[in-house]
Amino acid sequence: MKKEAEEIRNKFTADFKAVNDPKGLEDLRIKYVGRKGLITALFKQLGQLSPAERPKAGKVINQLRSEFDSCFQAEQSGIGAEKKTDQIDLTLPGRKPFVGRKHPLTQIFDEIKSIFSGLGFTIADGPEVETDYYNFEALNIPKLHPSRNMQDTLYISEEIVLRTHTSPVQIRVMERTKPPVRIIAPGRVYRRDTPDASHSPFFHQVEGLCVDKGISFGDLKAVITTCAHQLFGKDIKVRFRPSFFPFTEPSMEYDFNCIICRGEGCKVCKQTGWVEISGAGMVDPKVFEAVGYDPEIYTGYAFGMGVDRIAMMKYQIDDIRLFFENDMRFLSQF
Ligand code: DAH
Repeated sequence: MKKEAEEIRNKFTADFKAVNDPKGLEDLRIKYVGRKGLITALFKQLGQLSPAERPKAGKVINQLRSEFDSCFQAEQSGIGAEKKTDQIDLTLPGRKPFVGRKHPLTQIFDEIKSIFSGLGFTIADGPEVETDYYNFEALNIPKLHPSRNMQDTLYISEEIVLRTHTSPVQIRVMERTKPPVRIIAPGRVYRRDTPDASHSPFFHQVEGLCVDKGISFGDLKAVITTCAHQLFGKDIKVRFRPSFFPFTEPSMEYDFNCIICRGEGCKVCKQTGWVEISGAGMVDPKVFEAVGYDPEIYTGYAFGMGVDRIAMMKYQIDDIRLFFENDMRFLSQF
């Protein structure tokens, strides 16, 4: 009996290994532990044994049976589980794919680029790690000018800086192009500022430059006003204030009417009704000299544009840091 039991066990092990689907498993179960299966047949043989041998043999068969049973149980739950994952529940709602989107600042950049493309400007680019010459010297910013102060500028070495504005692109473009020139230069700039609601050690500007024969301050005002109208609508007002920049003469600063309160005064415009956008002016003859343009023949204007400020006004955001924290709860709103 023991020998027979051993043989059945070996056969079972081989059969069991070969089975790989629920139907095969069920056939095997019937073959071994079914009512007319091999185990039952073994039990039937017990009657032929002497009463003394029976208990021992019975134990061997019972042991075999419970071995088989537990194999079937384990395997059945395994195959069963697999079967379940094979089935697709067509009634479940679909998985929503994650849809990316442009950063709000990129959206404003795109808008500005599109406005100026429409006005005949092309897009220029320059390095963020810039030489002292392009960032300052060629722009008529002398060594002792306050904006070169260590507190504002991030110096890599004595001659290399992280550009503090996009104006150096003016110089790079004029060096390699003959007039007429009509470019904008969008990009990131850096200053040594402690972050707070309105300051960040890096922020974004668009530089503009137009040089040709007979370009006037009136052209500059028209281009800035057109840009304001296209960004915020025709009823937005633009204010020009006299100012000073070493690379323009005369220079001005310009503000847009706060679109949140339409000039009434609110948190975004700090109760003034105006949001300062940047500076602008007629290109200083010294700058033309630095790039080999003849200031007696050509005139031009240049302007800066604070992109973060425009975005903050457009989207009613009162903290610049929100743009740079990469918080999807914020970013996915735009
Ligand atoms: N570069 C200046 C800044 O970052 C802004 C600026 C002022 C740009 C006057 C100009 C300009 O082109 O003419 O504050």
